[in-house]
Amino acid sequence: MGMKLAVVGSGYVGLVAGACLAELGHDVLLVDNDPDKMAMLLRGEIPIHEQHLPELMSRNRLQGRLRFADSIADAVKSSSVIFIAVGTPALVNGAPDLSYVEAVASAVAQHVGEFKVIVEKSTVPVLTHQEIGKVMMLNGAPAESFEVVSNPEFLREGTAVTDFLFPDRIVVGADGERGAALLRKVYEPLTSGAYYSQGEAIPRPATFCGPARLLVTSAKSAELIKHASNSFLAMKISFINAIANMCEAVGADVQEVCEGIGADSRIGERFLRPGIGYGGSCFPKDLLAFRLVAEECGLEFGLLNEVIKLNEYQRCRFVRKVRSALWNVKGKKIAALGLAFKGGTDDIRESPAIAIIQALCNEGAEVVVYDPKAMERAKCVLQDKVHYASSAYEACAGAHAMVVLTDWREFAELDLALIRRALRHPIVIDGRNVFRREQMVAAGLHYYSIGRPTAAPAKSSQSDGQATVGEMLKEMRAIEPVPNLSA
Ligand code: UGA
Repeated sequence: MGMKLAVVGSGYVGLVAGACLAELGHDVLLVDNDPDKMAMLLRGEIPIHEQHLPELMSRNRLQGRLRFADSIADAVKSSSVIFIAVGTPALVNGAPDLSYVEAVASAVAQHVGEFKVIVEKSTVPVLTHQEIGKVMMLNGAPAESFEVVSNPEFLREGTAVTDFLFPDRIVVGADGERGAALLRKVYEPLTSGAYYSQGEAIPRPATFCGPARLLVTSAKSAELIKHASNSFLAMKISFINAIANMCEAVGADVQEVCEGIGADSRIGERFLRPGIGYGGSCFPKDLLAFRLVAEECGLEFGLLNEVIKLNEYQRCRFVRKVRSALWNVKGKKIAALGLAFKGGTDDIRESPAIAIIQALCNEGAEVVVYDPKAMERAKCVLQDKVHYASSAYEACAGAHAMVVLTDWREFAELDLALIRRALRHPIVIDGRNVFRREQMVAAGLHYYSIGRPTAAPAKSSQSDGQATVGEMLKEMRAIEPVPNLSA
């Protein structure tokens, strides 16, 4: 039988967790104090673009397992487990702002009656569970009336529902028996595999190897697992970006190098895609927060600094690559494909694409942008600094170059002959390696990518009065030599 659960906070994690927990058969009350968001959810609208979420939300609402409320009091009274999934945005010093977590904990404390488990779902620094416990008691909750458990979330935007329902592992950081037992029960449909035999279950991803392990650890260890996981993944990305730069310096191909490295099962092939650096609402923020935690512990963790530095460098390097390909950026029309921080989402928070577009605008380029999902959100940030196109082809019309900034599948499937005809100069600078070099050459495009040799068409071709490749090549400067990383 389903349990009575409350999820406080209907941001990315809260919304997905709420819908998925209802999908597992629990009665979920989703609480948020933002009246606009609540009104949207009550109308059946979903504030984020996420695969499977609309289906899960509507199915579980219809079946009465997913309800919404704006009052923490109701949620606490009617639930045995309360998940805190509110935002922890970065403060100016890089530390996460935990005031929303504190506000929820103190509100929850005032209504605790019978024993409750308070679950820390938001990403927080190690030892936050102790602070939550203190706040609960300061606000009148007797120590024996609750337990704080850390249950970090590892879902990715774009595949959030699938990640939640088909996890690699579930981490429960509980310092007491009751908390661990209740969380085991919450996730039982996943750990037993019962959910997967349901007719309506979300399709299983090809990489899924069976029911997840549920790891019970101390609350401190669970908190560290979250920050350490994100830092490790960010480190893999910065590492492969540095290797890609090395490949460019010597004319090697990073794709081949990745295959060679990734084939070692100790390393693995995932998260070794070079590009323009990581972005999003998690890695940049979590790396800064984890670095502060290390500092507060009096520890030297210089590796985190290097990961962050390499990530910033990668964006600058890409702008330099565009400059090298176009010679002068000022006055050139550039088609920028991609605004989201990665494909599959409309999220532009800390998006390297936005940072690069802003840098190009600042250098005097006329930038025309297109993204399949993130246009509306980007308009709030880029405003009238750029032009907005309704397709990749429209963005490329008359442009001196096309740059690819987000790894949308739609971009990899573009008709390159049409792109070639639309562009004024046949130059493509791909920050995500979405294309193969051979296909670009075959389409008559001059192709710059990350960590792979530049590819140029063998012979010039002419189309629709646009410049020939020969003419274009005369205008182009050779790509700049790769600067020393430490420079
Ligand atoms: C990340 C983690 O992958 C999740 O496990 C975690 O739960 C989440 O943060 C979080 O803490 O909430 P997410 O930010 O949604 O998830 O996105 P990722 O798929 O991890 O990508 C992050 C960034 O790294 C993107 O900008 C992406 O383009 C970039 N990336 C990723 C690369 O440049 N190369 C890669 O090989 C992989």
